[in-house]
Amino acid sequence: MHENSTPHPLALGIDVGGSGIKGAPVDLVTGDFAAERKRIKTPAASTPQAVAEVLDELVDSFELPADVPIGVAFPAPMDHGVVRFIANLDKSWKGVNLPELVHDATGRRCTAVNDADAAGVGEQRYGAAKGVDGVVLVATLGTGIGSALIVDGVLVPNTELGHLEIDGHDAETRAADSAREREDLSWEKWAERLQRYFETVEMLLSPDLIVVGGGVSKHHEKYLPLLDLRATVVPATLRNAAGIVGAAALAASERPVRG
Ligand code: BGC
Repeated sequence: MHENSTPHPLALGIDVGGSGIKGAPVDLVTGDFAAERKRIKTPAASTPQAVAEVLDELVDSFELPADVPIGVAFPAPMDHGVVRFIANLDKSWKGVNLPELVHDATGRRCTAVNDADAAGVGEQRYGAAKGVDGVVLVATLGTGIGSALIVDGVLVPNTELGHLEIDGHDAETRAADSAREREDLSWEKWAERLQRYFETVEMLLSPDLIVVGGGVSKHHEKYLPLLDLRATVVPATLRNAAGIVGAAALAASERPVRG
């Protein structure tokens, strides 16, 4: 780095998932990781206490200055930091104030947001939805289905479209990537489930662009070409890093969403 150049601001982004808890410091100018990402397995009993211990271990491992903000992307609707309901972690999370829990465990201030909203913000600031006007839906396909709805660059938080009831089922139990793995579905069979899911979302919201994220977005060429939708459908540019990057960006922003 040139002697006189100002270092880019950083924030630590952490993405809590059903199988792994991942974190990295993020360069907020470029949206790139400023150090290698670390991943710790989600504890089998994924209680608030057990997850808080993992968060503390992750935060400590990066040895960042005390004023670096922390953003946590969490797989539940977040009402001003409080978990409203939880589908894919221990049920005792309901009602927990996540920023308070993280502060008690780490001594640091934190912003907590829904994981798909974080991914949406990551894609909107640095990725596939950058500069896109109109209605953008970012859908994350993982243990569950997460949704972020962005209208002319503004996020509508906590949309929870993974829990639409479709053909009598909670949609994510049929169309999430975990359903593909659990039922050992071929890409073609899974694409049929995705088609049914996205055509329902399209009927309700008419998005101009659908960005498909989550870990399985790295295999997008196996299933995205099989979808027949009116919206343009593209894979997430940041792939599975979008949640970490978006959570970091929101932690540093003056107007975080209702985290
Ligand atoms: C949760 C959402 C979350 C999504 C992806 C759903 O089961 O209700 O809040 O965004 O899974 O993790």
